[in-house]
Amino acid sequence: MREWLYDIFRERPWWMSATMVFCAFMAFVYMPWDIFVKPVGQDSEVWFGILFKGYWAKLFAIPHWFVYAAGVYGFRRRRPWMGFWATAYVAQVAFGMYLWTALSTGGFSGILVGLFPALPFAGLAYAFWNSRDYFEPASLNLVTRYGEWALVTGASSGIGTSLAREIAAEGMNVVLSARREERLLALAGDLERDFGIKTRVVAADLAERSGQTALLDGVKDLDIGLLVNNAGLGYAGRFDLLDGEQLRRLVSVNCEAPLVLAHALVQGMRDRGRGAVFFTGSIAGRIPLPLHAVYSATKAFDQFLGEALWGELRASNIDVVVLEPGSTETEFQQVAGEIAHSGQSADEVARIGLAALGQQPSVIAGWFNWIQANAASRLLTRPISAHVARSVMAKQTPEDLI
Ligand SMILES: NC(=O)c1ccc[n+]([C@@H]2O[C@H](COP(=O)([O-])OP(=O)(O)OC[C@H]3O[C@@H](n4cnc5c(N)ncnc54)[C@H](OP(=O)(O)O)[C@@H]3O)[C@@H](O)[C@H]2O)c1
Repeated sequence: MREWLYDIFRERPWWMSATMVFCAFMAFVYMPWDIFVKPVGQDSEVWFGILFKGYWAKLFAIPHWFVYAAGVYGFRRRRPWMGFWATAYVAQVAFGMYLWTALSTGGFSGILVGLFPALPFAGLAYAFWNSRDYFEPASLNLVTRYGEWALVTGASSGIGTSLAREIAAEGMNVVLSARREERLLALAGDLERDFGIKTRVVAADLAERSGQTALLDGVKDLDIGLLVNNAGLGYAGRFDLLDGEQLRRLVSVNCEAPLVLAHALVQGMRDRGRGAVFFTGSIAGRIPLPLHAVYSATKAFDQFLGEALWGELRASNIDVVVLEPGSTETEFQQVAGEIAHSGQSADEVARIGLAALGQQPSVIAGWFNWIQANAASRLLTRPISAHVARSVMAKQTPEDLI
């Protein structure tokens, strides 16, 4: 805990951290009290130096609350818009301070006296403007951060192909794995030609221990610095109507294989003092999904494994991230036997996941999925969440499997 807090504050200059803590106090303590508890008659709010009282103050407190909440998020997650956001808001405070003091003092002395409270805020606004580069997202630089080689499972299609492409574009050599070898060979040729990197193809069935071992044997002479546990599948339908052996294989691909690969390859990363493990989870890992029960259970496993390893491996300089896509346009729906529905592009989802590597333990792909996942897992009760999920899944499941 102490280390984690230390890491959070070490990420940025002390004065930015102090502003972040102030924003957190305002967003979580002061503004809720100000809006919901403070009597209307006593309330006042200042925007651009203009004083609002009573119900107007209550109304204009809401954007203030939003400003501070966005401030906490922007500082913590180092969002690119934060440089402008912080500068504009603090400059507005400086202007308000000046105007207010100057007008209440009056005359020529007001013009001078107004500068005293305004100058510290103007200085802070200037400091934010000068530091706006800090908020630009760091370039991936995967080779520098993790080494020469990445291993991507499930690279023959969908999100895995996109991840392999993004990683190769960073100059990292890639081992491509899945069962369909001809697709992997075609992708390997494309990546070598487009990005001048080295590739290796290891075809393996990850539902079997023999396939997991064959993959590890196929990379044992390489220092794998980035492991991408992406291969995965689900089957839509009522639990008792699905084939038991198929469900066992599903659990092996989605849970056992990532565990076995991570366990074997993390040892080398630890010895080399750097590395990364990427899990493709799903928002289904946060929501119990009737008619996709085993799939959502396997994704909950991936989510917990990944987030727990994030906390465990930080001390060894090994980054871990769980990417949580929602519906994405890949072959997944066809394999799962779902009724076709729209989704995000695999490229977009892959980019979101890689950008979060080294930044946070898990990332939900896109705002719409974020709202869905958080509403289902944090706002609704478990029974309501399961009922709502069932009615959504029923629309995507063929009638004979319901
Ligand atoms: N698409 C979505 O809506 C969605 C949403 C949330 C999460 N996800 C997750 O995203 C990941 C990638 O899925 P996708 O959407 O890209 O689906 P996809 O296009 O069907 O790709 C799945 C990949 O997994 C590989 N795979 C499946 N069974 C395998 C096995 N027994 N052994 C080795 N490899 C196997 C497939 O390769 P071969 O068939 O060639 O073996 C393929 O490369 C999965 O973990 C999935 O759970 C997908």
